[in-house]
Amino acid sequence: MFMHLNLNLHNVSWCWGFLSSSIMYTGLLHSIQIRFPFITHQTPSFKVCSSKVPFDESSYEAERLRLDAKAIESMAIEAAAAADPKAWKWAIRKRVWDLMEARNIAQFPRPVHHRIPNFVSASAAADKLSRLEVFLKAKCVKVNPDTPQKRVRFLTLYGGKMLLTPQPRLRTGFFSVLESSTLNPSTMNEACTSVGVAKYGRPIGLDEKIKVDLIVIGSVAVDPITGARLGKGEGFAELEYGMLHYMGAIDDSTPVVTSIHDEQLVDDIPVEKLLVHDVPVDIICTPTQVIFTNTSIPKPQGIYWDKLLPEKLSQIKILRQLKARIERETGHKLPTGPSEKLPPNAQRRKKP
Ligand SMILES: *[C@@H]1O[C@H](CO)[C@@H](O)[C@H](O)[C@H]1NC(C)=O
Repeated sequence: MFMHLNLNLHNVSWCWGFLSSSIMYTGLLHSIQIRFPFITHQTPSFKVCSSKVPFDESSYEAERLRLDAKAIESMAIEAAAAADPKAWKWAIRKRVWDLMEARNIAQFPRPVHHRIPNFVSASAAADKLSRLEVFLKAKCVKVNPDTPQKRVRFLTLYGGKMLLTPQPRLRTGFFSVLESSTLNPSTMNEACTSVGVAKYGRPIGLDEKIKVDLIVIGSVAVDPITGARLGKGEGFAELEYGMLHYMGAIDDSTPVVTSIHDEQLVDDIPVEKLLVHDVPVDIICTPTQVIFTNTSIPKPQGIYWDKLLPEKLSQIKILRQLKARIERETGHKLPTGPSEKLPPNAQRRKKP
């Protein structure tokens, strides 16, 4: 086109006319191409104007009502998302849980919905984790109590390290400490289950002087690029992190590692929508790869009392104790968070 312009310098206006009309023409084609499927999608799909097919009023009306219902439903979903600021998290969680069940990546306990999902080759991911330098150097490792991280707990004890693990849902207490020196090869395996933790672990309180060198956390979905993580939606990882931070057991430099299946890697967690208490992940271990996220998301700085649901506070004794203690020490009442319906717990099923 540039060559063409040079050759026709004496007739520039003709050239411009040609040029602009061809732009208009392609523009028109574009708008037709873009609009056409949109129109056909939204309009009842039979030909109203065709002379051969008689106009069927009842099926036209049925189709119109169907499209109306569809539009109303999508508006309702958008309205619910706007009303519940956490709806986007649930959409991602549900997608991952559904996918893991559908592809049979999920492992006992199933269904994996509302859990830190157990997955095929979880032990391969744990083995990758156990070969990380931060793991090899760690003397004390905090590991979540969920099934997919059972082998991580075992490898921690097997490696002669101290294992710090929370009571499930912090229901019965706080953290328990397990020392491999107090276990033998046959009790070590049992010590990685919740029964074994109760049996062989030593419960600790908020005053325990302890240093945690590595945090292993379970996840539902993680973004490998940003390090943004979603848990099962009950907020325990955040509370545990916050309390360990309060105790001085961890700081911002304590690495946070997760072990997940490759199918739990996602790319649609909006970092700007994360909350201050959401814990980002530094390292991801899957059965096939190790990813250093180099996350720039700040680590939480303690418990965010103004975000803590009153229902949660009433469920967890150690949190009430901590709150009372801080209020006593500072002489100030701490804020309480907004009330909210808690998500349902996972279905309990007997092991097959
Ligand atoms: C993080 O940094 C390391 C080393 O600088 C680099 O190899 C790696 O690709 C980075 N990770 C991501 C997810 O960009």
